[in-house]
Amino acid sequence: MALTGKTAIVTGGAAGIGARYARACHAAGACVLIADVLRKEGEALAAELCSAQGAGSAKAAFVQTDVTREDDVARMVETAARLNGPVDILINNAAIYQGLGRKKPFDEIGIEEWDRVMAVNVRGVWLCAKAVAPLMRVQRYGKIVNIASVVDHMGAAGFAHYVASKAAVGGLTRALARELGGSGITVNAVAPGLVANESSLQLNDPAYVGLASKSRALQREMRPDDLVGAVLFLSSPESDFITGQTLIVDGGAVFR
Ligand SMILES: NC(=O)c1ccc[n+]([C@@H]2O[C@H](COP(=O)([O-])OP(=O)(O)OC[C@H]3O[C@@H](n4cnc5c(N)ncnc54)[C@H](O)[C@@H]3O)[C@@H](O)[C@H]2O)c1
Repeated sequence: MALTGKTAIVTGGAAGIGARYARACHAAGACVLIADVLRKEGEALAAELCSAQGAGSAKAAFVQTDVTREDDVARMVETAARLNGPVDILINNAAIYQGLGRKKPFDEIGIEEWDRVMAVNVRGVWLCAKAVAPLMRVQRYGKIVNIASVVDHMGAAGFAHYVASKAAVGGLTRALARELGGSGITVNAVAPGLVANESSLQLNDPAYVGLASKSRALQREMRPDDLVGAVLFLSSPESDFITGQTLIVDGGAVFR
């Protein structure tokens, strides 16, 4: 699934699973723009990617971006366009996940916290799609990959705002697919199961992560690497006749 010559924006790409997507897109040949609120981590990763394969390899850069802010998102797209011309791929990965802090019953979530989760996880996805769409329309080609979550299908307890936000990402994916299909732009989502990464281990006790492994047809811990194939596929020309879909990657816990 080569992405040679393509330009990819990875939101929330400075840390966590997003950094894995940024590395994977770059290794597949794409110029990668990492857009995140985390400057130090983002700049370090961009420098690592730039030096990884020496001169002549795909470029990489970082731009500090809060995906809830329209001006930041506009700057993000301008920066990506300056990097390599057209913007071909948007991986809408930024979200409040580790930032949830801890699980809490739905009736203990405050309005400010609810609105912040919705702003990053839903408004951010919409704003980034809205900002790249004009460039993609001009070239009549584009791949938007939204990161949803399997919690939408399972109804996990303890973070109702997060679950609702990821359900909204699924709906937005289908709506945008209908609106952008005529311009040759595909919009799909990847819904990961519980990844045994630092963020999940902060939010859940280890026993819960172990239980998730047992609930799978493929009974093991899920790792960021398990998501790379699905994200690259939906970012590549190999998936050009697939749109509006949500691909669950969870080792076979939820079948739909
Ligand atoms: N870890 C899991 O088990 C799991 C499961 C299902 C879905 N997901 C989803 O996968 C994605 C990555 O998960 P993760 O575990 O790496 O999460 P994480 O919380 O560790 O990382 C989120 C990233 O988004 C960035 N971010 C947060 N707010 C931002 C903003 N306003 N603007 C720009 N960037 C911002 C953070 O700085 C961070 O780099 C998220 O969309 C998450 O909801 C994760």
